[in-house]
Amino acid sequence: MEKDTVSLLRLALIQTASLGKALFPENHLLVVSRFRVSSPKIPRAFDGARILQLSDLHGTRFGRHNARLLRKVTAENPDYIFMTGDMVSRTDRDHTPFFEVAQELGRRFPCYYIAGNHELDMPPARLNAFYGRLSSCGVSVVNNQTVRLRKNGGQILLSGLCVPLACYPEAKHVTRHCKFTMEEMDRSLGKPDSGGYRILLAHTPLSFEVYARWGADLAFSGHVHGGMIRLPFAGGLLSPDRRFFPKYSAGVYERDGCRMIVSRGLGSGFFGARILNPPEIVAVTLSSGPEWAGKESEFTRHRKDVHL
Ligand SMILES: [Fe+2]
Repeated sequence: MEKDTVSLLRLALIQTASLGKALFPENHLLVVSRFRVSSPKIPRAFDGARILQLSDLHGTRFGRHNARLLRKVTAENPDYIFMTGDMVSRTDRDHTPFFEVAQELGRRFPCYYIAGNHELDMPPARLNAFYGRLSSCGVSVVNNQTVRLRKNGGQILLSGLCVPLACYPEAKHVTRHCKFTMEEMDRSLGKPDSGGYRILLAHTPLSFEVYARWGADLAFSGHVHGGMIRLPFAGGLLSPDRRFFPKYSAGVYERDGCRMIVSRGLGSGFFGARILNPPEIVAVTLSSGPEWAGKESEFTRHRKDVHL
């Protein structure tokens, strides 16, 4: 593409973003999207367990010291909080807005974090200091690790995946891009043993096929920011790798017995604005019962159908 055309496109995007911020006040809203996930593999001890997912904060502040975000999260009284990456942006010099959140939530709730592509783009020394600070806040960094969540004698496995930066098509500071394969998945987390309900945290939803084949029962992703602009009936418009109408942009997806919840995220990222796409906290309630996943509001109707 001609250099001038690229510059013009870039200018048009920046202007759309600025206009979006001014015309669409939902950029400053904060909504909670509620889902219910039910499976016979979920132990009875986890019936009603509440998970909150925060994703793609990109160093955004909601209120002074992020008080509005903290109030919303605390009001949900979660059993677990999952932070699925890009909580800061690669260009941020100051990570205070995120650590205001991490410090308070790490003190009050069990929190688990995985890195997104923006964190992985930091110089190694800076990234290690970032992980160290997170751990000292009481947040468990679970990059390529599996931990057990225990509740009243039952347990669920939680695996955190750190997708290598080179597997993000939009990554700039890599010598060679790669595709995220099953081999890479096994190298990162090992082969899952049979039995037990397994939750996977994976920043990008792009490799859903691999997560499902690997054996995840429920995956939490973000990265796509809901497609930046959400169009009625068509969904998300643009992905971070500048593709139109990304396959996974928000809500629940299903494949080979695996459910994936994709958060629309909290910040704006490179585009700088969200249009018809308010910042989102995802709240999931687990149920021990027949396989099902969807909006909480649809669950009662589904349960009625099952018991007819
Ligand atoms: Fe992001």
